[in-house]
Amino acid sequence: MHGIQLIWHGHACFEIRAAYNMLIDPFFRGNPSAKLLPEDVNPDIIFVTHGHYDHLGDTVEIAQRTGCRVIAMHELANYLKSQNVKAEGMNIGGKVQVNGISVIMTDANHSSSISDSGQRLYGGRAAGFILQINGCSIYHTGDTGIFGDMRLIGDIYKPEIVLLPIGGKYTMDPEDAAKAVAMIGPGIAIPMHYNTFDVISQNPVEFMHKVKDICETKVLILSVEDVLEL
Ligand code: NI
Ligand code: MN
Repeated sequence: MHGIQLIWHGHACFEIRAAYNMLIDPFFRGNPSAKLLPEDVNPDIIFVTHGHYDHLGDTVEIAQRTGCRVIAMHELANYLKSQNVKAEGMNIGGKVQVNGISVIMTDANHSSSISDSGQRLYGGRAAGFILQINGCSIYHTGDTGIFGDMRLIGDIYKPEIVLLPIGGKYTMDPEDAAKAVAMIGPGIAIPMHYNTFDVISQNPVEFMHKVKDICETKVLILSVEDVLEL
């Protein structure tokens, strides 16, 4: 055990509780699958994979209230700084230490823009994160299609846990996500980014079966607010 709690708040939003409280892609307000509101959470660090509203979510509101650190792609971090948020930018392949946690930014095959007052601002590339906490490596792929370097990411960083989208249309569907899991080779895969909206309706059990057909990885289908002890 690593002394970590992992909680799914719906869509792509995960909370990781260790020595510090971390949120990835905090989308609460307007998220039909979320049970909490932005005022209910008190993170020390927020990680944002890209600028789309269902990922950037309530980052500005939460970070302004709590004064927490926010880690994101350089361009997105610059936008956040302009909103008086304590943001720190990085880029694909970069590694930083944040409160003793190793953070690696990975590529994601996706786009990124920020909606602000009716304008769309350039958000840099979309990304994923590998977080190495208490000897446990957790890979949140962000929104992405399948790509061959997932095998490389698996070889280099050997993530124990992978959090990946299965909703289709904007990201991988269950079939491609299962192939991605086989390439990355984690101990546990957790599906996300499905059934939040009608356009990304999927059956996570189908994903579980497809993974079982091609590799040894265990799939855990979380319910919103389940607490997974790692
Ligand atoms: Ni997106
Ligand atoms: Mn998305």
